[in-house]
Amino acid sequence: MTDRLTITRPDDWHLHLRDGRMLDAVTPDTAMHFGRALIMPNLVPPVVSGSDASAYRDRIMAACPDGASFTPMMTLYLTEGTDAADLVAAARDGIITAVKLYPAGATTNSASGVRDIDSVMPVLEAMAEAGVPLCVHGEVTDSEIDIFDREAVFIDRVLDPLRRRLPALRVVMEHVTTSDGIDYVRSGGESIAATLTTHHLFINRNHILAGGIRPHYYCLPVAKRETHRLALVAAATSGDPSFFLGTDSAPHLDTAKLAPCGCAGIYTAPNTLACLAQIFDNEGALDRLDGFVARHGAAFYGVAVNDGTVTLVRTAAPQPVPDDRMTPEGSLTVFDPMVPIHWAVAG
Ligand code: DOR
Ligand code: ZN
Repeated sequence: MTDRLTITRPDDWHLHLRDGRMLDAVTPDTAMHFGRALIMPNLVPPVVSGSDASAYRDRIMAACPDGASFTPMMTLYLTEGTDAADLVAAARDGIITAVKLYPAGATTNSASGVRDIDSVMPVLEAMAEAGVPLCVHGEVTDSEIDIFDREAVFIDRVLDPLRRRLPALRVVMEHVTTSDGIDYVRSGGESIAATLTTHHLFINRNHILAGGIRPHYYCLPVAKRETHRLALVAAATSGDPSFFLGTDSAPHLDTAKLAPCGCAGIYTAPNTLACLAQIFDNEGALDRLDGFVARHGAAFYGVAVNDGTVTLVRTAAPQPVPDDRMTPEGSLTVFDPMVPIHWAVAG
């Protein structure tokens, strides 16, 4: 039995750090364990230009603990007013790594997102030509589509037609939650990949709704039924390089989560690696954890793997859920996987 596991210093290819006091509170949790993270641009107002991204990057660096070896990789928020020349220049100059598509109304701070994909086709064509990846929040927003079907419908109505129109566009389907998404990415060739979150490998919709409503498990895309969770676990632990970690760790104050209309998002940054080690261990796939957290994403984004390592140790006693984080504006609850976690990061 493996009791110590040393992996390459990992990357988180989908992370929300926010801004201001929340940024200061949460950045150390990621910077401690990860070499890089792809930073989501859904601030208020959103990160829409190369100069916004560069200024936000500076604020993130200022929030990193001294001596942390952490590099934020920036994204732009695609709007119907995005300036393609500014975007391509920001990518060429190494300011941004990717561009994020939020369908308008799909999730937190997505009001400035895209209503009509045709209106951004010239920008997407410029991205395809310049090799800038598009990260997609893959859910339709139509009120007549059931929330549990929104990912599968998005693939049929938006994503597949887009990729047929622009086969050269490199796409990351973010936080896939369904077997439909897994199957689509598996059969999609080299131009598409997917991120999987930590929490979607643990929870299904019963965790949110059975025996009481648990707002801390509410996120978007919402967790689906158990058969889908099992498909996600199989994909993550399969060794298929199309799948890699993007935690979607999304901090919201408890006051915003525990409300009559609570925010979507789960804060997993502090215990993500320990939780993932447990899932891979359960599947007999500890030897594939390194690929999922440190290699597949780097290969897709065309960057070298990180220097350095992280060591995880198996613990006889289950690890407690990390304490709530305290910010000057209130508390922030850390993800509780609801199963015993017998792994911890040793250093
Ligand atoms: O649960 C989520 N939270 N899903 C998203 O797509 C956005 C995120 C956030 O920013 O809070
Ligand atoms: Zn997200």
